[in-house]
Amino acid sequence: MATTKRSTSDACSLLDADHRKVKKMFKDYEELTGSRAASATRKKRELANEICNELSVHAQIEEEIFYPALRAAIKDTDLLDEAEVEHASAKDLIAQIRDASDVDDMFDAKVKVLGEYIDHHVKEERSEIFTKARATRKLDLVAMKEQMQMRKEELMNELAPEMAA
Ligand SMILES: [Fe+2]
Repeated sequence: MATTKRSTSDACSLLDADHRKVKKMFKDYEELTGSRAASATRKKRELANEICNELSVHAQIEEEIFYPALRAAIKDTDLLDEAEVEHASAKDLIAQIRDASDVDDMFDAKVKVLGEYIDHHVKEERSEIFTKARATRKLDLVAMKEQMQMRKEELMNELAPEMAA
């Protein structure tokens, strides 16, 4: 079935798989926030690093490939402007989390707020941006998926070679 295929294997579905993956990591993080055990602290630091890596790569493939293509194909680009502004705030928080030396209450707060940014980002993409991308005939979202997948692997390798293996 062409429609099903289109929605399960295009550029939007690749991005949405990232969204689901990272939401799960935020949830795992939240479950650890009550604990002061050293193992929980270590796990939180690891999860936070993974979240930051996933989101940086996700933002970069959106900015390099998805948003510019969409910008050229659709008329109403306000949403894309907003998405790029939101990316800038998220990146600032990601940098703060990466640089933090302690996994304390402020660290938890930063991860929580980053999760809220991402929830909002996901809502906007699912309800508006992906809908518009799939509605236009000017984009080959299946070919774009391949391109983004390749770029993603490349970027993941640069960031965390041991994780991308
Ligand atoms: Fe996204």
